[in-house]
Amino acid sequence: MDIKKMIQDMTLEEKASLCSGADFWHTEAIDRVGLKAIMVSDGPYGLRKQEEIINNMGWAKSILAVGFPTAASLANSFDRDLVHEVGNALGDECQAEDVAVLLGPGINMKRSPLGGRNFEYYSEDPYLAGEIGAAFVNGVQEKNIGTSLKHFAANNQETRRMNASSEVDERTLREIYLTAFERVVKKAQPWTIMCSYNRINGRYSCENGWLLNKVLREEWGFKGLVMTDWGAMNDRVKSLNAGLDLEMPDCHGETDKLIVKAVQDGTVSMETLDTTVERILTAVDRYYSNKEENASYDMEAHHQLARKVADNSAVLLKNDGILPLKESQKVAIIGEFAETPRTQGGGSSHINCFRIESALDALKDNPNITYKKGYVAEKDEIDETLLSEAVAAAKEAEVAVIFAGLPDSFESEGFDRTHLNMPESQNTLIREICKVQPNTVVVLHNGSPILMPWLSEVKGVLDLYLAGQAAGAAAVDLLYGKANPSGKLAETYPLRMEDHPAFLNFPGTHNEVHYQEGIFIGYRYYDKRKMDVLFPFGYGLSYTTFRYSNAKLIVNGQSVSSSSTNAASGQNTGMDVIPSISAKPDDTIQVSVDITNTGDVAGKEVVQLYVKNAACEEIRPEQELKNFAKVTLEPGETKTILLDLDARSFSYYSMQIHDWYAPSGDYELFISASSRDVRQRLTLHLENERKLPFYVEEMSSCDDVYNYANDPSPLDAMLTKSGFTDTSVSEDDSMGAGTAQMMRAMFADTPLHSILSFSSDKLTWEDIQDTIRAINEKQP
Ligand code: BGC
Repeated sequence: MDIKKMIQDMTLEEKASLCSGADFWHTEAIDRVGLKAIMVSDGPYGLRKQEEIINNMGWAKSILAVGFPTAASLANSFDRDLVHEVGNALGDECQAEDVAVLLGPGINMKRSPLGGRNFEYYSEDPYLAGEIGAAFVNGVQEKNIGTSLKHFAANNQETRRMNASSEVDERTLREIYLTAFERVVKKAQPWTIMCSYNRINGRYSCENGWLLNKVLREEWGFKGLVMTDWGAMNDRVKSLNAGLDLEMPDCHGETDKLIVKAVQDGTVSMETLDTTVERILTAVDRYYSNKEENASYDMEAHHQLARKVADNSAVLLKNDGILPLKESQKVAIIGEFAETPRTQGGGSSHINCFRIESALDALKDNPNITYKKGYVAEKDEIDETLLSEAVAAAKEAEVAVIFAGLPDSFESEGFDRTHLNMPESQNTLIREICKVQPNTVVVLHNGSPILMPWLSEVKGVLDLYLAGQAAGAAAVDLLYGKANPSGKLAETYPLRMEDHPAFLNFPGTHNEVHYQEGIFIGYRYYDKRKMDVLFPFGYGLSYTTFRYSNAKLIVNGQSVSSSSTNAASGQNTGMDVIPSISAKPDDTIQVSVDITNTGDVAGKEVVQLYVKNAACEEIRPEQELKNFAKVTLEPGETKTILLDLDARSFSYYSMQIHDWYAPSGDYELFISASSRDVRQRLTLHLENERKLPFYVEEMSSCDDVYNYANDPSPLDAMLTKSGFTDTSVSEDDSMGAGTAQMMRAMFADTPLHSILSFSSDKLTWEDIQDTIRAINEKQP
């Protein structure tokens, strides 16, 4: 396709018509110049392709497809390769179904566990979300199918999602809410980005030139097209100038007319419109140039992949030696979710699964199973008959396994949750069963954290999250040890709803939501406040145990430190502390660590690397995840894991230079099995030659000058002249026991302009101005 020529041949009206969809799911075609349309479709963890639209809201039954585990499950796998494989599979499905762009992944941060759409997002941690997102996008796009990274940006709630303004400072935006997008753009170049419904600091994302043109395109180098979320268009002309290319769905020609008028009156330049058209044509061209004729895929094979992903994503939260179960054990399976598992969330990501494999399906050949429904999922009412049947069956068995969790009505796109509770009918069922059966296991189906008031009464908890159409089969694999649990939590489970960082400001009022917790979301908050949690970020058990040993720092290829003793598996004790070594931010810095499977079954461990910069002038989290790896080990096997760090791993976003900055100083590197289970520790001294600029002004304090000025000697001279250096006090003059201390502190904090008030009459205003000038002349 000769894109440039096609643009030249188009009329203004034709160009404008391309800037909005032809219908709910297609771009415009222009037969006159030989331009075809492309189709976009939700997911993203399966195809929600709608062949015919029934009404304006786009409701229609979608084709039968494979429902993979949702984003929240997938992130728990901490497995880039597996996520990449899912992307590949979905790319093949899109090729077979003539879908050019898969609308996802959603990578917004889980600011609050109450977010209704959290099951569609990966994590509370931007590094993890960015890495999983990049693996997914690369997987799909390798198949010459586009993705649409969404929802850009700061779209972290469903309440008033189409007009709420996320009031958030730039450092927080950069370090938390934009980081995952930046990582995916830089590592995977998604074909498209979906701009969110909400406003950011008062301006609609779709009209935000700073966000779309400056940050996304200029700074991060995004090459693709930006489309609106469905119905997110507000001011078409402003948005075009801000870098928003495609409005979705169609606008019945209305906003196209506004574009024509704006070009005619000069509000939008022809060059801007041509750039937008070129981006849209590039997506169309990429698709048709690489379209596989007669593509097909094997649904059954993808079902098996969905099962493998669910096996590798589920998180074993508790196991008092009860799991894995033995086939010979007499087990009472209880709960409607064992019969009809909750596999996904509600809303635009909802897949019409071609098959759902329940736990009962997977257990059909096991003669030692009894099943009782126990509760009706969609009704939060205790059904006494179902309850007493379930209790009786549990009493008769050796073990009770209760399939429980959140029903659809408790979490979905479109509304936020108002509490973290499971239905009381299910909590009651679990408690009643624990009274008669000491060997009780709970298998959970939930898209975001819940409270577990019965946790101390049960012996095991396996959290599937929303694990896709093979969820039931995966549960059975894991319960019976055919698969070994290896997922770790991609978010923190708080002890109480009131504990979570955004509690006071979620979902906001009067169309504004203030992100007052700043950079402290998820574990960054709980760690800083030293709060206990129900389950920490990065936590998950296995049927085996792992030893971490021999941690080393490798700088520019040279191993510079090593440890001598092994940390005890599963314990915080016995940690190795290694002497600090020095590096520069641009050095190649790697951590290597040996992981040994010390149990007697094969297993997978997620090794997590956190960085702490304790002595920074800026407030920083206690630790931040900067790399991870998932390693598979046979019993007794040891593998050496290598984890890279880069300048960004040590940096915060400095509002002074509007850039990332890695301050010189000491850093601790934690090699951990969860955010609260440090197994090995290394220290590193970083020396950054780049210094932050410091310019003295009248309100700079004496201490600022002494701490940051290249040469503070002009201040020495001025202070000597002023006599202000004499802070001695006699006991008689005392204004209290701390007078001397107070005087020193006041001296340190005194701004230069105030020295005049406390000096001898030799000091003049000109002296102060001369001193400021002299110090600044010596600054870089
Ligand atoms: C959702 C998007 C989705 C789009 C199309 C919107 O309501 O926010 O995630 O891709 O609809 O269905």
